[in-house]
Amino acid sequence: MRNLSLYVHMPFCKRKCPYCDFYSLTDFEDHRRYVDALLLQMEDYAMAASPFTVDTIYIGGGTPTVVSERLLYDLMDGIYRNFKVFLDAETTIEANPATVDLSSLKKYKKMGVNRISFGVQSLSDKELVTLGRLHTAQEAIKSYEMARKAGFDNVSVDLMYGVPGQTVKSFTDTLRRITELDPEHVSVYGLKIEPGTHFDEIKDTLEFPDEDTEFKMYESAIAMLRSRGYAQYEISNFAKPGKECRHNNVYWTLGEYLGIGPGAHSYFNGSRFSFKRDINAFIEAQEQPEADIDIIDENYRISPNERVGEYIMLSLRLTKGIDLREFTKQFGLDFEKMYGELLDAYVDGGFMTRLENGYAFTPKGMYVSNYILSDMLDFDSEIDRNIANGSDR
Ligand SMILES: C[S@@+](CC[C@H](N)C(=O)[O-])C[C@H]1O[C@@H](n2cnc3c(N)ncnc32)[C@H](O)[C@@H]1O
Ligand code: SF4
Repeated sequence: MRNLSLYVHMPFCKRKCPYCDFYSLTDFEDHRRYVDALLLQMEDYAMAASPFTVDTIYIGGGTPTVVSERLLYDLMDGIYRNFKVFLDAETTIEANPATVDLSSLKKYKKMGVNRISFGVQSLSDKELVTLGRLHTAQEAIKSYEMARKAGFDNVSVDLMYGVPGQTVKSFTDTLRRITELDPEHVSVYGLKIEPGTHFDEIKDTLEFPDEDTEFKMYESAIAMLRSRGYAQYEISNFAKPGKECRHNNVYWTLGEYLGIGPGAHSYFNGSRFSFKRDINAFIEAQEQPEADIDIIDENYRISPNERVGEYIMLSLRLTKGIDLREFTKQFGLDFEKMYGELLDAYVDGGFMTRLENGYAFTPKGMYVSNYILSDMLDFDSEIDRNIANGSDR
């Protein structure tokens, strides 16, 4: 019996944040029709997925919590009808703090969701306005507390650094207040200017913290979270012991996952594939299978060489790094022979540490890991991004 992770994309948001390029729409109202299409796609995969048992479910977006509880219930029901699911599966929903209340949170819990990930981003109201968020700091805290009241004992919070106008002080203040709330998991993302977003258009008018300040923010996050009981286990992810996100760990350890919905990515039965970011084509393809509408964006089998590259890239994202014996066992290759001088240079430069039997990035290396990895691997950065995150990110 093989384990499978399931990702379901909910491409809706109340308002588009100016930095975000996740596939999400603000003007698509027929959520029922969309969820029905998701259910049809799941039915399509049920047979191929029958040798698997689902170990983690991630309902991501967009903002899944803008969809009614009734429809989310139908979605969960569809998952359980079409797939075998472990009793203790980790089931996460992504939530914008502005789109939940106690009653909806209780219903998520009742339908089997046992982990909630809040996009808090910052606890500075000024920064939240800059980020175009729909909630204040106080409202984000209130939603977090409501989740606790609703019975969630596994809560994650997303934060961002490198935000225009942000200082090391305002960022550490956010971190301090967040850790006082005591979530089980914290993700800390460096703001990335994504092509085509509003921030990309106006970037010359925005006052970003300089590189040194941004690195100080990242370093402070690592130190501060560590001192408060959160171990860093990946470039952007920190958790209390045993609370690492099981779903994301599947992406980073080359486990298999099936992504349902437009823009979702999969690594399933040896193939990587993704669906186009087009909700109408997606729905029509499910409703009219005879019309043969092509919704596949990428679809390729992984060559042995690509697998080696993916393994290196994903292992190095993790703080435990790459294990030399494991690498040789999996690929019959010698990592040190492959990268000898390059590794010495990274270690000498303070970007990597030589472990007893492997290599891992230092915080400085993690911070510039994109550059180092593209130096090491001859990889398409778009593919990198997608396999690093599994979904449409
Ligand atoms: C799908 S959203 C989270 C749920 C919900 N939509 C929300 O925003 O509250 C995923 C996370 O990605 C991060 N993110 C999105 N765009 C980003 C960017 N351009 N740079 C860095 N982080 C980004 C944010 O921290 C966000 O919370
Ligand atoms: S950050 Fe979240 S709420 Fe904002 S546009 Fe992206 S998915 Fe939607």
